[in-house]
Amino acid sequence: MPIQFLEEQSLFLLETDNTAYAILLAPHGQLIHTYWGEKLPFPDDYPGQPHNVAHSSFGTWGNDLAAELPVPYNILELEPSIRLSFADGTRDLRLKYVKHSIEGENLTIDLKDEFYGLELQLGYRVFPDCDILTRRVSLINTGQESIRLDEVLSGNVLLPDDKGDYRFSHLSGAHMIEFQLDREPVQPGRKVIEGRHNYTGHNHNPFFALDLVESPATETSGEVWYGALAWSGNWKIVVEQVRSHRKRTRVGGGINDWDFEWELKAGETFETPELVIGYSAAGFGPVSRNLHRYQLEHILPSRFAQDLRPVLYNSWEAVLFDVTEAAQREIATKAAQLGVELFVVDDGWFGERHSDNAGLGDWTVNRQKFPDGLEPLIRHVNDLGMKFGIWVEPEMVNPDSDLYRAHPDWAYHYPNRQPTLARTQLILNLGRPDVQEYLFEALDRLLTDHNIAYIKWDYNRAIAEAGGTGIPTANRREHWVRHYQGLYGLVDRLRAKHPDVLFESCSGGGGRVDMGILAHYDQFWTSDNTDPLDRLPIQQGFGLAYPAKTMFSWVTDMNNNAAPYSLRYRFLSSFMGGLGVGANLHHFSEEQMREAAHWVAEYKRIRPIVQAGELYRLTPLEDHTEKKDSYAVGYVAKDKSQAVIIALDRKSHFWRNPRRLRLEGLEPETVYRLSGDIAEREPARLSGQALRTRGILPRLEGELAAALITLEKEG
Ligand code: DGJ
Repeated sequence: MPIQFLEEQSLFLLETDNTAYAILLAPHGQLIHTYWGEKLPFPDDYPGQPHNVAHSSFGTWGNDLAAELPVPYNILELEPSIRLSFADGTRDLRLKYVKHSIEGENLTIDLKDEFYGLELQLGYRVFPDCDILTRRVSLINTGQESIRLDEVLSGNVLLPDDKGDYRFSHLSGAHMIEFQLDREPVQPGRKVIEGRHNYTGHNHNPFFALDLVESPATETSGEVWYGALAWSGNWKIVVEQVRSHRKRTRVGGGINDWDFEWELKAGETFETPELVIGYSAAGFGPVSRNLHRYQLEHILPSRFAQDLRPVLYNSWEAVLFDVTEAAQREIATKAAQLGVELFVVDDGWFGERHSDNAGLGDWTVNRQKFPDGLEPLIRHVNDLGMKFGIWVEPEMVNPDSDLYRAHPDWAYHYPNRQPTLARTQLILNLGRPDVQEYLFEALDRLLTDHNIAYIKWDYNRAIAEAGGTGIPTANRREHWVRHYQGLYGLVDRLRAKHPDVLFESCSGGGGRVDMGILAHYDQFWTSDNTDPLDRLPIQQGFGLAYPAKTMFSWVTDMNNNAAPYSLRYRFLSSFMGGLGVGANLHHFSEEQMREAAHWVAEYKRIRPIVQAGELYRLTPLEDHTEKKDSYAVGYVAKDKSQAVIIALDRKSHFWRNPRRLRLEGLEPETVYRLSGDIAEREPARLSGQALRTRGILPRLEGELAAALITLEKEG
């Protein structure tokens, strides 16, 4: 039973295959966290009480520091999970347990304020075979008057306080250098990573991991407490250390309280997004694999969740806005010769879109570029055996567009300020039902009138004037949340009507990658930096939290390092996720075309292992300050019958210290046949155990060499 209430100890026990989480229902009706870690054999093994801490008149001591849900009352030094104001100005909460229900893998604990009409539900769900637990909070106003919500986090958890100091790992960066791994010791006080720009953000990603300073986790060993927030609007994750007579570290997250406010009217409910958390006793490898499995099996929209993603071609980097029917036809013909399965027309096909100065908002075909509409091109693409996809950026508007001229009020703005443009565009207020309706109609028409199999949905600016007009709650700072309720609802509505369209989330590359948006979109554009060497740390960071199937990577002509990249190198760097081609194929010689076609075929051969298998990083995780000699990853098929190793040299000179690559996850006593780029005198057959302990040396000779090795179970 994954969830139990142990009457005798008054303990809620939530267990996954390898982990456990326990909450004490204290005699005075409060919930106290007592355990988060490895699963233990017997219920009596779990601590029924938190560590006892003396009380002091100078702040939060004793059990309150272990509160399952810190709220302002007498727990003022901790990051509160909830801050609010009742109509009479009372700003604290005195919550008492009312009841709970356990239904399969779900636990709901109902609490209510001892005086005011406010009920709170703590929702937990366990995913036993993913070793994942989710937490969320619902607030229900059962009174007569509105309650002002100032903060409602999804969860906040205490880490074990007897294991020493913690190290915080998170993903940070910027446009073109997303998902760089940052690591730092947890210190007294509070560390906040957040998004404040109305999208997940390039600067930080809502993922966290904490391991121990004294025994740092590797890929295969050490304890890690980790999690992510499933939300694409403003968010925050807080890691804090409070000292009583021992250090106590907590981690929590949810919708960002910065500039947030919500009027919870009588009878209404406010629901938070989910905080996804997990524990690994075996290092960072399981952190990623558990999160990946959880997303693949429980988050991805079901229509394509089990399907392999097609190889796509996109001409954005090759021709930018210069898309015309004639030119796209030609490049589509070349893409088909490579074995591409989905041909995508990117930005530039609509309105007066000749550059990024105009057109956003007018989702009708530009007749100068496509004199007979999109149909002739789509037919051509389909006749070549490819599906057709198209780019849109529905949440945006250029002032130079028919949409803006008709509805200037639909963009976020302040009435007496000049709107600040970025990439000459403004953001539409998706919280407005009329905006949602306009976009639904425009996109529905596009999808109804054309045989479109894929949408690349972009979002290309941070917000400036975060003010909205035209909805009753415009001034209440609610639009941060309403925008995403509107967006998620809009995409779901489009998907319901057009179930066979694959949706990709893009935001100037990887600006909107999170587990919230992944419940509505099928894959991500990872980064606008497509240099194959620069991509490696980006892909490493992305893969720490998000699955390979969703990580799109194109082979383009970008070369930020003036490096002698071979086509082999460019392709193998892109083999680590979903494959795309974005190079200008008119510049490819016949020989390069033949070689590229070979690599596309190779990718298709290994695609089921990469996209549906499990990821093993074969070189140690590196933070953004490091750059090791090589980068290598392995993918093992679910049934362990096949595996792939991709290894890339990263130095622009001969690789002097070849690294044996040790692959976990195989059947120890099964013999695997190895083929591909194996170093001389290396065996062609090895057992799973030997591959794990002795490893295999790839053939990486010369600068920026790249190796692809496949493993196949014998017999
Ligand atoms: C940003 C995306 O990341 C690019 O791939 C491309 O679609 C451009 N926007 C188009 O404006």
